[in-house]
Amino acid sequence: MRKLRALVVLAAAVAHSQPTSTPSLKDAYKGLFRIGAALNTAQFEGRDPIAGPIIEAQFNTISPENALKWQSIQPGPETYDFDQADQYVAFGEKHKMFILGHCLVWHSQTPAWVFQDAQGNPLTREALLDRMHDHIKTVVGRYKGRIGGWDVVNEALNEDGTMRQSPWYRIIGGDFIAKAFQFAHDADPGAQLYYNDYSLENQAKRKGAVELMRRLRAAGVPITGIGLQGHVKIDSPDAGQEAATIEAFAALGLRVNISELDVDVLPRTTRSDSADVSTTAAGTAQSNPYTNGLPEERQQALAKRYAELFRVFVQHHNSMDRVTLWGATDGTSWLNNFPTRGRTNYPLLFDREGKPKPAFFAVLREATRNR
Ligand code: GLA
Repeated sequence: MRKLRALVVLAAAVAHSQPTSTPSLKDAYKGLFRIGAALNTAQFEGRDPIAGPIIEAQFNTISPENALKWQSIQPGPETYDFDQADQYVAFGEKHKMFILGHCLVWHSQTPAWVFQDAQGNPLTREALLDRMHDHIKTVVGRYKGRIGGWDVVNEALNEDGTMRQSPWYRIIGGDFIAKAFQFAHDADPGAQLYYNDYSLENQAKRKGAVELMRRLRAAGVPITGIGLQGHVKIDSPDAGQEAATIEAFAALGLRVNISELDVDVLPRTTRSDSADVSTTAAGTAQSNPYTNGLPEERQQALAKRYAELFRVFVQHHNSMDRVTLWGATDGTSWLNNFPTRGRTNYPLLFDREGKPKPAFFAVLREATRNR
């Protein structure tokens, strides 16, 4: 039975494997920056015959979609579970990829007990700092020298650029960020350490983030870079905003990475452009228009949008180390379920069968345009 299953997986992999003639993004972008994808568990465990060959052929950096989030890696106060994370890291090492850790300190996908004592009362500042320290020391320490960069703090800002009133902020205070970076640096002085957030292209949020980064740098906090998540729409932010954002952070001496790129092609079901994972919205008859495939004209619009973005990235390659897509193929993208569940979205470079889309070839072209 096992053998049969292995054969079926193998046959599917062969059927879906990229023709050797498909050029690779990682080769095309050599000398500019790395190209990456976020992986789900099936992918780094070798159980996705469609995405598997694409990941190996196309990307030279990986991020874990969920495997290293707090709820996955430390589900209980005394319980660490490294099973998936170990496999994820082993996958990256096997394929000689730059391996990302994502993420250490976030308000989402972090269990409620983290912020409470055994009686369910809010922790004191000191107790929460101890807990944060234990988590970071244990997780970063385990992969010291193997995970090359960490998203240390994720999404600490509101849309208007003020500090988000997360339990981390409320209990510890504004210095929770500096503390997290210091703990991560102590656990692996060789690792790159990033602040990661969405919508930093928007004026107000960018201004808040630039101020925050400036303060951290001035205080000598060991932060090496910023992750612009890049959960963008087909029409915003525009190329000018993208360029100005990269330049604003690079001017502070930070490396700038695009950490979670995808392009939402579906009609908006919320008023804001927020990528806050807690956002949900009901669908309407009009909000899921492409269940039978993306029309050619939309396909071309997506390709154009990707070309526009990568043109900006190539222009700023001196400040950048990587562009990571949030997924490998359209079929497994979170945008099929965010902010509205059960839609058919087309945000990435490979379709549901694993075939490269016009957007893929557009991205490829941008690598060679001026070389
Ligand atoms: C945020 C997080 C990611 C992921 C995406 C959606 O951007 O940083 O870990 O949860 O949302 O999948």
